[in-house]
Amino acid sequence: MPTLLHVDSSPLYGRSVSRELTAAFVTQWKASHPDGRVVDRDLYATAIPPITAELVGAAYTPEEARTPQQKELLLLSDTLIAELEQADEYVIGSPMHNFGVPSVLKLWIDQICRAGRTFSYADGTAKGLLIGKKATFIIATGGVYDAQTQMASFNFVEPYLRSVFGLLGVKDATFLTTGGTIALNSGQDRDAFLAPHLEAVQAHAQTI
Ligand SMILES: Cc1cc2nc3c(=O)[nH]c(=O)nc-3n(C[C@H](O)[C@H](O)[C@H](O)COP(=O)(O)O)c2cc1C
Repeated sequence: MPTLLHVDSSPLYGRSVSRELTAAFVTQWKASHPDGRVVDRDLYATAIPPITAELVGAAYTPEEARTPQQKELLLLSDTLIAELEQADEYVIGSPMHNFGVPSVLKLWIDQICRAGRTFSYADGTAKGLLIGKKATFIIATGGVYDAQTQMASFNFVEPYLRSVFGLLGVKDATFLTTGGTIALNSGQDRDAFLAPHLEAVQAHAQTI
């Protein structure tokens, strides 16, 4: 049974562009995979603590030597990593916040990047351990950061996600970006604005 992991990270819920587009992706994916399973991970509904020295200590202690407290500290990270391991495909929504990913998405990334679990440096080079996964990243930005525009170098969302997931072994990654959402704050019709982006998301979801 194919499994899709659906991750959202916008605080705006009903007004969020990335949430609307990841939902459209999920609807299309379910239609193409009637026997599929979708796991939803809403990062605004998940309390993810920042990294602490204790957590780092626990992660770098060999599994068989961990204390009960260290195992407890790693439980959330273990759960989030298991969701990635058990899914075949990912759809991950990200707004741009201050040119980067929102803080809840960064907190999640800090929990899922674990040496020996999702990547290894065993032979001195980084090797991703999430193998054979397909990821679709759906990004919404207030401004426009297309390549060749003056603002392109300010976009730390796509290059960052591409690098992090590349480290984890997820090389099959598609990025669908909706730029210029600021127009929605000044009277632009939402349905008309979103129509081509919904079409692109649905068309892509049909191919996988
Ligand atoms: C806290 C915050 C910071 C933002 N920073 C940026 C930014 O640096 N650049 C930009 O183009 N848009 C910025 N925006 C606008 C969002 O990227 C835009 O509203 C986008 O649609 C958010 O995705 P969402 O609709 O899924 O929440 C910011 C919005 C918020 C709430």
